[in-house]
Amino acid sequence: MNIILLGPPGAGKGTLAQALSDHFAIPQISTGDMLRAAIRAGTPLGLEAKSVVESGNLVSDELIVALVKERLTADDCREGFILDGFPRTVVQAEATRDAGIVIDAVIELQVDDEVIVQRMAGRRVHLPSGRVYHLVNNPPKVEGLDDVTGEPLIQREDDNEATVRERLRVYHETTAQLVGFYSAAAAAGAGPRLITADGSRPIITVRDQVLDVLG
Ligand code: AP5
Repeated sequence: MNIILLGPPGAGKGTLAQALSDHFAIPQISTGDMLRAAIRAGTPLGLEAKSVVESGNLVSDELIVALVKERLTADDCREGFILDGFPRTVVQAEATRDAGIVIDAVIELQVDDEVIVQRMAGRRVHLPSGRVYHLVNNPPKVEGLDDVTGEPLIQREDDNEATVRERLRVYHETTAQLVGFYSAAAAAGAGPRLITADGSRPIITVRDQVLDVLG
C-alpha cells in the first residue's frame, strides 16, 4: 500500500499518517519532519532549508525529490509507505511517476483556511519523533509531555499565524494543482485512486472514513 497524503498545512496529514502507519505497519515519510531533523542537526541540507521552511515557502524540487527517492530505497518501505507532505508541486509528482514509483491511493484532506488558522495555535509536537498533539482536540496524557518518551512538547516555529497564512497561500497557489494532476491521471486509468475526506470532522471519524475506503 503506497499512499500520498495531500492537503493544506494543518489539515491533519501527520495525524492521519500516524494512524495509517499503525494500521498498515508501513512507515510515515514526512518531508517536513526530515527537513526539521536536518535543520536541528545543522547538516548542509538543514542549512539550505532553514530560512525557506521558517518563511513558509517551498524548498527546491531538486533537493526534496533526491531526499524522498533515497528514503524510499530503505528496507522498511518494501511493504509500502505513506508520503506525508510530498509531492507538493507538479514537478515533484512527475519526478515520482517518472522514477517508476507506483502510488495506490492519494488522500486529499479538505479543511477551510480559518479552521486551520485556529487549529494551528493549539498544535504541539514532539520534534524528534514527529508525533503531533493538540491542546484541545488531541491532548497528550500528561500536559506538555510526549506520550511515548515523556520529553517536552514544543510549538513549531512556523506555526505563528503570519507564517501559517503564507503556507496556506503557497498551498492554494501551487500544491492544490496536484488534485487536478491526480484526478486527470485517475480518469485516464493511469494513476492512483483519489480519495477526498472532510478533514474538519473529528480525528477518529476522518481515520475511520479513510480506512473504510482503503479496505
Ligand atoms: P510540513 O511539516 O509537511 O507542514 P505542512 O504540510 O504545512 O503540514 P503540517 O505538518 O503543518 O500539518 P498536517 O497536515 O500534518 O496537520 P497535523 O496532523 O499536524 O512542512 C513544513 C515545511 O517544510 C513546508 O512549509 C516547506 O517549507 C517544507 N517542505 C515540506 N515538504 C516539502 C516538499 N515536498 N517540497 C518543498 N518543501 C517542503 O494537524 C494539525 C493540528 O490539528 C494538530 O494539532 C492535530 O492534533 C490537529 N488535528 C488534526 N486532525 C484534526 C481533526 N480532524 N480535527 C481537529 N483537530 C485535528
